[in-house]
Amino acid sequence: MPTYPDFNDRTLSLGLARVSEAAAIACAPLIGRGDEKAADQAAVDAMRRQLNALDIAGTVVIGEGERDEAPMLYIGEDVGTGNGPGVDIALDPLEGTTLTAKDMPNALAVIAMGPRGSMLHAPDVYMDKLAIGPGFKTGVVTLDMSPAERVSALAAAKGCSTKDITVCVLERPRHEDMLEELRSTGAAIRLITDGDVAGVMHCADAARTGVDMYMGSGGAPEGVLAAAALKCMGGQIFGRLMFRNDDERGRATKAGITHFDRVYTRDDMVTQDVIFAATGVTDGSLLPGIKREPGFVTAETVLMRSKTGSVRHMRYRNPVK
Ligand code: FBP
Repeated sequence: MPTYPDFNDRTLSLGLARVSEAAAIACAPLIGRGDEKAADQAAVDAMRRQLNALDIAGTVVIGEGERDEAPMLYIGEDVGTGNGPGVDIALDPLEGTTLTAKDMPNALAVIAMGPRGSMLHAPDVYMDKLAIGPGFKTGVVTLDMSPAERVSALAAAKGCSTKDITVCVLERPRHEDMLEELRSTGAAIRLITDGDVAGVMHCADAARTGVDMYMGSGGAPEGVLAAAALKCMGGQIFGRLMFRNDDERGRATKAGITHFDRVYTRDDMVTQDVIFAATGVTDGSLLPGIKREPGFVTAETVLMRSKTGSVRHMRYRNPVK
């Protein structure tokens, strides 16, 4: 067994910012071009190149898919120079491929890193998610509550009316009943067409974003990335894996999951301190997108460490050769 140096989150974090930055910049020429695949590929290639320049012995635990379906950044892929700490990596080089192809808000390049074993190996299935920002008692809202009960409970905890609560939800036919119930409470609903990592992150800064709670089903890998973000920003997220068939249950078993109905808390999904970086691809309410002007490209990245709770916004402007 090789021995690795300890995970030094402080030193590694700046390198991590370069990784999401590179992915966002690489796919920027494809914003609004209607080609999801090309945008994703550009982000994947660039993210992988930058990751492989880092002095880490990294393993992708949340990636582009299983080894047989993703040629790069697949789950289990080793990344980094190999000279450095053993780390687990959760990534989504382009969170919001359709948002990018259609030039719609809040597409991000996203990556989280932590010591070996720090993040849930979530299979590529759906997850039922519920998130709120910091400052509330643990479990003030739960996945076992109905959508209306969650709104009432959060309003009571905030000392406001249910009408003053805004819930962010992915606009999908599978959420129709939930949306109807939410409407009956008088709560406002911010519908998003994609990008639930950003959707969850909005809850951590409700005063600025106007979003108090996120709920609904989306990708389980995105759930772990969102949990990593909230571990740094503060806030609660709960997730329960959802299985549509035996193939999906098989994926979970392969990922080492035995308890299929388990509700994962934020700290179950991300068990140790992590670092998290996201760079805006398209303009959004969390981050501005990539700006391309003659001769220059500008990117903005949010870089966070859960150990300290530090949130650093970094603006990068670079001449284009
Ligand atoms: P991609 O970036 O892979 O396109 O994912 C976007 C996304 O909206 C995620 O944020 C979300 O978790 C998932 O897709 C929802 O899946 P579906 O589109 O099947 O409802």
